[in-house]
Amino acid sequence: MEAVQGAKVVVTGAGGGIGAALARRFAGQGAQVVVNDLDAGRARAVADEIGGIAVPGDASSVVPDARDALGGTVDVYCANAGVGRDGGDPGAPLDERGWALSWDVNVMAHVRAAHALLPEWLERGSGRFVSTVSAAGLLTMIGTAPYSVTKHGAYAFAEWLSLTYRHRGVKVHAICPQGVRTDMLTASGSAGDLVLRPTAIEPDDVADALFHGIDEDRFLILPHPEVAEYYQARAADPERWLGGMNRIQRHWESTG
Ligand SMILES: NC(=O)c1ccc[n+]([C@@H]2O[C@H](COP(=O)([O-])OP(=O)(O)OC[C@H]3O[C@@H](n4cnc5c(N)ncnc54)[C@H](O)[C@@H]3O)[C@@H](O)[C@H]2O)c1
Repeated sequence: MEAVQGAKVVVTGAGGGIGAALARRFAGQGAQVVVNDLDAGRARAVADEIGGIAVPGDASSVVPDARDALGGTVDVYCANAGVGRDGGDPGAPLDERGWALSWDVNVMAHVRAAHALLPEWLERGSGRFVSTVSAAGLLTMIGTAPYSVTKHGAYAFAEWLSLTYRHRGVKVHAICPQGVRTDMLTASGSAGDLVLRPTAIEPDDVADALFHGIDEDRFLILPHPEVAEYYQARAADPERWLGGMNRIQRHWESTG
């Protein structure tokens, strides 16, 4: 793909799951890829496999080292690292650390990366920011308030970036899948079993959807196309949508 051939790409949280699939796909299309992950061993394994460069560490602060590794510039940044937390249910004790971690990784890492990248991108009039959000950022996720709320934040930030900088050459994509067969889905417990697993797709399907979206120059990437209908239903009739989600919540409580 022309937009990607020779591009200098960073993928955070690319030691496995969706990030590894994105890193493989970019490398397969001729990009030079920095593979970031908190887990250094997994970052190195993926980098070795695809001929990329491992830059382990926290996604929040990866841009300077990634830029150096890529010879001074970043063309595409995939803010993919994310954490899913159980709990955050206001009926249970407040999990301050869970909330703080979710804000930090799911939202602030994106904000920090954009601050580090935008001066370069605006000066040269090009750059691409890919945010792995979640359908939870458009809808919600049963059983986890921190994930639901921070993914709404990640979506809002991607949307804001897109509308603010699109006329200055910055392209933004927000990927909003439902279940994807990764370690995070495995860890999502009975709520994931109920609402995610039945329609779960492979990480490669997410990469397919992103590349299709890049080709069509689309902001919103929906690897599960039915999410568009749920998003419309939520906007059209919030009361009805909440009632439907509460039915799923009660079903989960009675079976989970
Ligand atoms: N799996 C799903 O069903 C699903 C659905 C929608 C959205 N997502 C989103 O996709 C993204 C990728 O998740 P996944 O399913 O591939 O999960 P995963 O657990 O397989 O991979 C996440 C990777 O991110 C790394 N990571 C965590 N915190 C990090 C940090 N601070 N800095 C760098 N790396 C860090 C982990 O070590 C892990 O390798 C996440 O943002 C997640 O919220 C996943």
